[in-house]
Amino acid sequence: MSTSCFDPLSRLRSVPWSALHGLAPVAAQALSLVLSGQPAERVLDRTLRAHRSLSRDQRQALAEAVFNVGLWRRRLGFLLGDPESPVPAFLYAFLHRLAGLPAGEAVRLSGVQAPLALVSEEPPSLALRWSLPDWLAEHFIREFGPAAEDFCAHLNVPGPITLRVNRLRTTREALGERLRSEGVETRPGALSPLALHIVGPRPNLYGLDSLREGLFEVQDEGSQLLGLLVEARPGETVLDLCSGAGGKTLQLGAAMENRGRLLAYDPDAERLDRLLQRCSRAGVSIVQVLRAPPEGVLADRVLVDAPCSELGSLRRGPDLRFRLDPASLSALPRVQRDILERAGRLVRPGGRLVYATCTVNRAENEEVVLGFLREVPGFRLVPPGAGWLDPSCVREGFLFCAPHLHGTDGFFAAVLERVVG
Ligand SMILES: C[S@@+](CC[C@H](N)C(=O)[O-])C[C@H]1O[C@@H](n2cnc3c(N)ncnc32)[C@H](O)[C@@H]1O
Repeated sequence: MSTSCFDPLSRLRSVPWSALHGLAPVAAQALSLVLSGQPAERVLDRTLRAHRSLSRDQRQALAEAVFNVGLWRRRLGFLLGDPESPVPAFLYAFLHRLAGLPAGEAVRLSGVQAPLALVSEEPPSLALRWSLPDWLAEHFIREFGPAAEDFCAHLNVPGPITLRVNRLRTTREALGERLRSEGVETRPGALSPLALHIVGPRPNLYGLDSLREGLFEVQDEGSQLLGLLVEARPGETVLDLCSGAGGKTLQLGAAMENRGRLLAYDPDAERLDRLLQRCSRAGVSIVQVLRAPPEGVLADRVLVDAPCSELGSLRRGPDLRFRLDPASLSALPRVQRDILERAGRLVRPGGRLVYATCTVNRAENEEVVLGFLREVPGFRLVPPGAGWLDPSCVREGFLFCAPHLHGTDGFFAAVLERVVG
């Protein structure tokens, strides 16, 4: 029996499913690609480009069908009694049992010949209830215990679209007004003072002048907390050691009010190129991109936004969970520990080191940090965000936030200080 009160299926009631009429062959073609392992986002994009004359409702219904059948495939396989059932049967089972359409309507829209017999019992396992690979469901049970049910239910709805205001250009209030004038309603985030959540249907943000003018970036509220934990100040030397395309570098540059030195390193050269483009749009002028691993720096603050298994971001894509390789998880703690040790050598005495991930895996989170503290002398753990961070985001001395607790993606962070002397 499910113990989660949260119903991830309720949002499906407002989808205009009748717009799928006549589109069963198009849906079946897209779904067969998704169910055979192709990324749903890319398949949908190609499908919509090949059928440009579809109405708004048809596009919405098709997108929801492709994403949701892709997402719920394990539960649908259970309902059908055979995970190898034909693709239209998956669409039928989804429309009838999960989206709640009458059997006749589900037959008409899915392309099956007649109503299909579906299993009537509740799915007996967490993996089948929330449509996860068995190994991943077992992992979440180990991580969360009884709360795994609620966590997994929250993985089955897309997260909110959250913006981070660029304080170099505007304030959160002024940005909210500006977006309203562009037809986009927002509400302030409760955890990050920089966050605005989009209210209502997903807008085309990329068409907005406010984005082109660098007034905001799209960034999950939990991710914003990681950047805030660095507590970067104007005039300091700050190193972003896994900068990627610069989501947090931009945030750090704004916190530093464009004064001081902001060093960004990532082994992926293409991401560093994108970082530079984003800096110019956002007006961040103090970034120095490093094309080789930094040496000999003694920074006031170092951020390690480590490469990780990304289990905290699974709700961002309907099929990410099915493309994970459990073997790759076990290799990550070694890599993370190496990066953290390298980072430790680049922090000045009295300086701050923030280790962060977007995963829900103690082996990549607490265990990496506690192992580092045991074996590398001269660092201590400090309470994260003392004085400003909502206490609900602190677990056993670390930042921890998650969809079922905070409405954010899943994030972990440790704040360490290099002891003087
Ligand atoms: C979680 S992503 C960083 C996201 C980025 N900080 C942001 O906010 O957009 C992790 C990054 O670590 C980088 N990375 C992988 N191995 C690394 C290493 N040995 N040292 C530093 N960075 C590494 C990856 O290329 C990737 O861009």
